[in-house]
Amino acid sequence: MLAGRRIVLGISGGVAAYKAAYLARLLVERGARVKPVMTQSAVEFLGPQTLAAITGEQPVVGLFGLDDVSPHTHLAQWADAIVIVPATAATLSRLANGLTEDALSATVLAAQCPVVAAPAMHTEMWEHPATTANVKRLEEFGYVLVSPEYGALAGGDEGVGRMAEPDTIVDLVDEILGGSGAMEGVRVLVNAGGTREAIDPVRYIGNRSSGKMGNAIAVSAANSGASVVLVTAAKPPDHPTIEVVAVESAQEMADAVWVRAGNVDVAVLAAAVADFRPVSSGDAKLRRAAGPPEIELEPTPDVLAGVANLVDRPFLVGFAAETGSLDEAVAKGQRKGVDLLVANDVARVGSGFGSQTNEVTIVFPDGHTTPWELADKTDIADRLWSLIGELMRDGDAR
Ligand code: CTP
Repeated sequence: MLAGRRIVLGISGGVAAYKAAYLARLLVERGARVKPVMTQSAVEFLGPQTLAAITGEQPVVGLFGLDDVSPHTHLAQWADAIVIVPATAATLSRLANGLTEDALSATVLAAQCPVVAAPAMHTEMWEHPATTANVKRLEEFGYVLVSPEYGALAGGDEGVGRMAEPDTIVDLVDEILGGSGAMEGVRVLVNAGGTREAIDPVRYIGNRSSGKMGNAIAVSAANSGASVVLVTAAKPPDHPTIEVVAVESAQEMADAVWVRAGNVDVAVLAAAVADFRPVSSGDAKLRRAAGPPEIELEPTPDVLAGVANLVDRPFLVGFAAETGSLDEAVAKGQRKGVDLLVANDVARVGSGFGSQTNEVTIVFPDGHTTPWELADKTDIADRLWSLIGELMRDGDAR
């Protein structure tokens, strides 16, 4: 599944650059977002405007003179994968030696994502010991090189060196990104964000949840081919296949979740739902001159409990926000009747609200716990889906 995946398409200067335009189109057709990066010599073979029209993104050609002061690091951080078509002998050499004089090689050096390169050159250049050594080195770095094929080469020659076909390369990228569609056909409901409970038309009772963990869980499932509905009180991710239902209060959250929960296979309830709300919020703003108001509170619906009580409920994952000891999380997991509880200490540095990372402990229904090390929320989301998949396959969660 390439839908929603972010691909940096690197193009270096060889005649096969014309195939990069078709490859860009294939990626876009499969739902990927594509940002092109071209070397100066690639521009001699393919017009940047062609790529801009196909991808909707102006290709980055140099490192200087742009609004972005650090285009290579931003592209590298953005990418789920970098795909280089064609990779010329010179580009392979630069990448193998960590030279960064152009935007493409600087982006690759700054990246931590998978890199796929499709070499294309004359047979003599491909078979030269220098190229062989560079290819070996790049493979040692973990880059995936798509071997060139036998066929017509530039200048009327023929031999090994012709770039692999774009369809083959796109299938490979799909596979590398775990897009085997492992969750194809799985229906997922995720909730996220902190609810807001109105005090008056201006003010509310809220919490610090950013929705990032829930967003990462929704994106991870959608990228594996699941059909995902995200009910959220926070800013949703920009993803082409996730259906977003925006809500504000706990009651709206409950209504939106409950009406959908009977029709999904898995529900991951990561939202920070307020436990109490003002009894009445009124239509008029509370006035300062009236002095400090007394705000009477009442309990909100427990969204998760409503799903747990469904007769034919989905596989249910809850979250537990704790401060300090996670002992309470074990009791909470059993009390809430979930298949899995993800507990985190929101007071800890690098964990919880607003952070890009999280350190969670998985609580199983029998009360045993497994701490996971501090990791990026996207990695935790991927790992959580692997665990959910295992438990659902084994059927030993209930
Ligand atoms: N939850 C919910 N509806 C609520 C409160 C919580 O669905 N009104 C869900 C959360 O989405 C989470 C789980 O219940 O999946 C645990 O939330 P948490 O805030 O940790 O626990 P509470 O049930 O609120 O208990 P406490 O305030 O005592 O920690």
